[in-house]
Amino acid sequence: MSSSAAFYLLSTLGGYLLTSFLLLKYPTLLHQRKKQRFLSKHISHRGGAGENLENTMAAFEHAVTIGTDMLELDCHITKDEQVVVSHDENLKRSTGVNVNISDLKYCVTCQCEGKDTRIPLLEEVFEAFPNTPINIDIKVNNNTLIKKVLKSLPPLGLWLKEPHTMSRSQKFVIWLSDVLLMRKSLFDHLTARGIQVYVWVLNDEQEYKRAFDLGATGVMTDYPTKLKDFLNNFSA
Ligand SMILES: *[C@@H]1O[C@H](CO)[C@@H](O)[C@H](O)[C@H]1NC(C)=O
Ligand SMILES: *[C@@H]1O[C@H](CO)[C@@H](O)[C@H](O)[C@H]1NC(C)=O
Repeated sequence: MSSSAAFYLLSTLGGYLLTSFLLLKYPTLLHQRKKQRFLSKHISHRGGAGENLENTMAAFEHAVTIGTDMLELDCHITKDEQVVVSHDENLKRSTGVNVNISDLKYCVTCQCEGKDTRIPLLEEVFEAFPNTPINIDIKVNNNTLIKKVLKSLPPLGLWLKEPHTMSRSQKFVIWLSDVLLMRKSLFDHLTARGIQVYVWVLNDEQEYKRAFDLGATGVMTDYPTKLKDFLNNFSA
């Protein structure tokens, strides 16, 4: 390599490093600080899947009662186009019956029996918790479902996630992200720009501590009571 090429390369690299350093150090140089509508430190995954049957009204009620800042839930669409709250499309794991939600009609009368064990409609959750932010995971890429969810959204800002199925390469990216992204400097940079950083799904005190020590804005957990107790002691 000639010396001028080396000089060019090094100065470019130097410029890149300097710019990166400056932008990381001064987060609002390029970006305006985002306004925050709400801050969610405590997020209940599927309503708190470790403490109640996941994605049930009983789970959501428990999480809201202990003061969760946000509910996380999943939804699917039935044969008769009702949006229901469930993580899996197939009901084998949750009910023992090998049947797909998209092959079933929503039955209002059969559903009245057990409030704690039945599959709720998405609308019911909105009605029951009008003041709680809800993170909705749309599990299947079905346009009717997406349109229905968007139409049923209350005027409060909600956070939608695109449907996905995870491939091996995505799992690798998640592992790599943990190595590259779980850094205090990055978390500080993002929060200074007003971007909320959530970490999920964390279920024990050490993981909670690691996340908040790194500067996470919020943690999503299957154990809302455990996280609540942790936060009481952590901030004290
Ligand atoms: C979306 O869901 C509806 C209701 O279950 C169904 O009729 C339709 O075929 C689905 N669309 C696709 C593309 O799967
Ligand atoms: C449920 O749907 C999946 C994917 O479309 C299919 O492979 C499976 O056979 C279905 N299960 C039942 C019980 O119909």
